[in-house]
Amino acid sequence: MPSIAVIPGDGIGPEVVNEGLKIFNYFNNEYNLNFKFEEFNLGAKRYLKNGELIPESILKKLETFDAIYLGAVGDPQVPAGILEHGILLKLRFHFDQYVNLRPIKLLNNRFSPLKNKGVEEINFTVVRENTEGLYAGIGGFLKKGTADEVAIQEMVSTRKGVERIIRYAFEYANKTNRKVTLCDKSNVLTYSHNLWLRVFEEVKTEYPNIKTDHYYVDAITMKMVRNPELFDVIVTCNMFGDIITDLGAELQGGMGLAASANINPDTVSMFEPIHGSAPDIAGKGIANPIAAILAVSMMLEYFHRDDLSEKIENAIKIIIEENKLTPDMGGKLTTQEVGDEILKVLKRG
Ligand code: NAD
Ligand code: IPM
Ligand code: MN
Repeated sequence: MPSIAVIPGDGIGPEVVNEGLKIFNYFNNEYNLNFKFEEFNLGAKRYLKNGELIPESILKKLETFDAIYLGAVGDPQVPAGILEHGILLKLRFHFDQYVNLRPIKLLNNRFSPLKNKGVEEINFTVVRENTEGLYAGIGGFLKKGTADEVAIQEMVSTRKGVERIIRYAFEYANKTNRKVTLCDKSNVLTYSHNLWLRVFEEVKTEYPNIKTDHYYVDAITMKMVRNPELFDVIVTCNMFGDIITDLGAELQGGMGLAASANINPDTVSMFEPIHGSAPDIAGKGIANPIAAILAVSMMLEYFHRDDLSEKIENAIKIIIEENKLTPDMGGKLTTQEVGDEILKVLKRG
């Protein structure tokens, strides 16, 4: 019986996770899934109360779960980076979740921000490296606070790290015979991304049936807007993957719709919306829960219940069609009402 650790987190995190769990619980009962849930209170409240981020005992406990379902972390009362590093990145690194899978899939033409580009054209997946690059946290200050201050943040690319993520992208594309695009900046990062380029060239020879191409990160943002149909699977480094998937989220209809999976097939994987804690709308009950619900869909797929994952996606397509949506998508419903509408469609079968 799979066990899921739930970390609602900060801001709109708990609001959207609630809706995700509503759907999960329904499936649990309806299909006797026997998933077990346990909630962990990590985030700004805990940190502001006693300075704790993830206590060692909780980290050890999380190791015993089959997956983690996370809302979001980040709070205006806490200096930037503390919760993000101390909780989110800590978990990604601790469990060596080296794959950050981020599907960019438009579900309804009405929500395409691009003229003449619809569900056929906007449908690809970003495979983001999730444990290295500029996120490795190596660096420091020299003469901090003086006019001569130096701040260094290293970009780390290891042969092992680059190879495993590129290989994952090819394996992922191999399931559907699709194209793999490398997104890098090897024209400037002539060490770090030269390694990416060489490994990509090497690994691709093992997949003769898979087409490949290559764009620099600046050009790829332009192509994602102008010709999103060019892409099937994009593999890229940690920082570029972060940036291009917010652009991707907008292509699929907005931040409220984009989900992601932090995967290591051998440890504990973590599923989350790609948006943050959205302090500007937190507590108002208007956050869009679709991204968090699609994260549940990705989790079910991970547990080989593709059938249930598809049911969720179809139900979401229906409520979008019926305009039963939160204000960010032009609707009038609350977070909970959108969750209820999705549930209603699922129950209808
Ligand atoms: P954000 O994603 O929280 O918000 C960006 C914009 O999108 C805001 O205008 C917000 O209102 C809107 N938005 C986001 N999710 C939405 C939803 N579900 N429904 C409707 N509108 C939504 O990004 P930010 O403002 O840069 O960051 C806020 C905080 O969240 C920061 O502390 C940041 O570090 C953190 N953050 C956390 C995660 C995470 O935990 N995975 C991800 C990104 C940012
Ligand atoms: C994301 C977020 C995180 C990232 C931050 C909050 C550390 O932006 O999941 O996209 O940069 O990976
Ligand atoms: Mn991001």
